[in-house]
Amino acid sequence: MVKVVAIVGSPRVDGNTEFLTKTALDKIDEEDEFEVELITLADKEINYCVGCGVCIKTGKCAFTDDMVEITQKVADADGLIFASPVYFGDMTGLAKSCIDRLRPLRRIHNFKYKVCGAITTGGFRNGGQESTIASIHDFFNIQGGIVVGDNMPTGHYGGTGHGETQSDEVGIITSINLATRMVDVIRKLHNLD
Ligand SMILES: Cc1cc2nc3c(=O)[nH]c(=O)nc-3n(C[C@H](O)[C@H](O)[C@H](O)COP(=O)(O)O)c2cc1C
Repeated sequence: MVKVVAIVGSPRVDGNTEFLTKTALDKIDEEDEFEVELITLADKEINYCVGCGVCIKTGKCAFTDDMVEITQKVADADGLIFASPVYFGDMTGLAKSCIDRLRPLRRIHNFKYKVCGAITTGGFRNGGQESTIASIHDFFNIQGGIVVGDNMPTGHYGGTGHGETQSDEVGIITSINLATRMVDVIRKLHNLD
């Protein structure tokens, strides 16, 4: 089995970002060889990185909060979806804290063969979904992951939602197409065809 983990960086449980992320994961879950897991950061205790450098020396973060388990789950995943609402044109502080705390995985190039995709949602159609996805893609690239967008025919940056995402056709189709693109690449990498 291959595994895709999705992290939702909204402080709101069951919100717009979680809906699109679940939509993408449900699509991936249709594949026999795939298992999926959604992790919401909303109910987690996550300290922000203080740059102490302990992870550089020991490979582990000095903090022992919920990031211990999340880091292990990300490390074990073959695919990673990272999702965030747009807050002032970028990801939430919660999402960024999680990203910074995943630094120990960079030291061992854990993302080398991890297929990575992003989902964002904003209150407005052009509210910063693309700039937020670009920030998430920076994280994937700096971790050395394999970054993918949404599959053709939509074929852009990933899942991009706006407003109430349960009725947002573009958000839903781009999130589903992100899922199918991730499946394509993971299948190729793991010789599943
Ligand atoms: C502090 C704050 C800043 C926000 N900034 C933006 C923004 O820059 N652009 C935008 O389109 N929506 C913005 N929004 C709206 C949220 O992105 C939007 O409501 C989103 O769907 C929330 O997702 P969630 O339900 O998963 O939490 C902001 C919301 C908050 C609370």
